[in-house]
Amino acid sequence: MLRKRGSLIFCGTFLFVTWNAVLVLLLWGRPPAPGQPGEPGRERGAAADGPTDSDDVVGDVMRMADTFEKELELQRNILLQIKKQQSLREPKAPPPPPPGRPVVPILVIACNRVTVRRCLDKLLELRPSAELFPIIVSQDCGHAETAEAIRSYGAQVIHLKQPDLADVAVRPEHKKFQGYYKISRHYRWALNQVFKTLSHSSVVIVEDDLEVAPDFFEYFQALLPALRSDPSLWCVSAWNDNGRDGYVDPGRADLLYRTDFFPGLGWMLLRELWEELEPKWPAAFWDDWMRQPEQRRGRACIRPEVSRTLTFGRKGVSLGQFYDKYLRYIKLNDKFVPFTELDLSYLQEETYRERFEKEVYGAPLVTYEDVKQGQPKGSGPVRLQYSKKDSFKVLARNLGVMDDLKSGVPRTGYRGVVTFISRGRRIYLAPPPGWTKYDPTWS
Ligand code: UD1
Ligand code: MN
Repeated sequence: MLRKRGSLIFCGTFLFVTWNAVLVLLLWGRPPAPGQPGEPGRERGAAADGPTDSDDVVGDVMRMADTFEKELELQRNILLQIKKQQSLREPKAPPPPPPGRPVVPILVIACNRVTVRRCLDKLLELRPSAELFPIIVSQDCGHAETAEAIRSYGAQVIHLKQPDLADVAVRPEHKKFQGYYKISRHYRWALNQVFKTLSHSSVVIVEDDLEVAPDFFEYFQALLPALRSDPSLWCVSAWNDNGRDGYVDPGRADLLYRTDFFPGLGWMLLRELWEELEPKWPAAFWDDWMRQPEQRRGRACIRPEVSRTLTFGRKGVSLGQFYDKYLRYIKLNDKFVPFTELDLSYLQEETYRERFEKEVYGAPLVTYEDVKQGQPKGSGPVRLQYSKKDSFKVLARNLGVMDDLKSGVPRTGYRGVVTFISRGRRIYLAPPPGWTKYDPTWS
């Protein structure tokens, strides 16, 4: 194709040059027309020669004009063809996304850790389309080395910088929480950039200490329609808070859940939710604030059985509160699940709730002692019951899952039920049948 275009350009140029040469030669020997300024070195009066000579000139010029016109038409056509070829081969702007496939930007929240590279390398390696998943790195903290690391990715990422680097004014007892205030300020600014300045309609937020799984993009692409169509959902998260190796079923990497606990750590939200939250966005602790009933308003998130993110940030603002005990052991999914080709209708609220309750409350009720001794026989699911905050905590601790609650909701909980694998068996840590609501005083 390149060769053909090259010869077209050559032909066009050749004809153009030849024609101009002919024109110059013809005009060279002719005197200028009457009334026209003479060329240097030529006498003005020379134009007023005999009538025969003048007729000849008129005839010649007419023929020349004719040829010229035809030639111009020919050249115009050649140039048009060249132009058409070029616009087909060398688009200047990136091509628009395939029709019907929505654009979901990935917002990477960065600050002062050059290890953001690990996060970005994985995102770029796995990203199926630069048009559908533009990567926006929003950097807080003004850290030069980190800025340089981000800059080194060139046009592969969009680099934004949070402009307000001043300390946030906080009451004295909160001085030690300065970091949480800055994170919250950064989130507000970055999400405003994504939704207001860049006018996106959805976003996946990834922190700089997260590494993503092979089907990370596939997962969010497949769940976007569910998030859009189901008002009882407010987020899709890549994270399983209890997703440690041995606590998940590796054979069910395709399995997804609804959860009342906001997981964060690689999560998708829509513009409508941002418009709802932005006016009251908190000065600090934004994630726990999201977990309060006033914000959550009974809505659930989708979360996977096997995490699609892993956190490698031991030294963070929360000083590795949970890192060494839980987070570092989270199993990152390593198989690609073609979520966009799967039937995900089982996640619809009513369908899901009915099936889930049947499954949970249909499982035999056992004690912790039973589970420890491998009872009952077989590998079917079992149910363990708690009815107080303390009994929940004791059971959770004994079984090795996270025992904290936020606004009364246990991590990964759905209608009070926490599910995971223990000794190869599916466990449902559940409140008594007939659950109606969470008690926000449980913490
Ligand atoms: C924890 C949460 C995190 C949440 C944060 C705020 C876990 C594992 N992490 O942060 O999801 O957002 O609490 O409640 O539960 N950052 C800034 N500006 C700063 C400092 C940090 O933008 O001044 C950014 C970091 O680049 C990072 C994010 O904020 O993307 C979280 O910071 P990190 O240091 O990782 O804190 P965690 O303790 O993990
Ligand atoms: Mn972190």
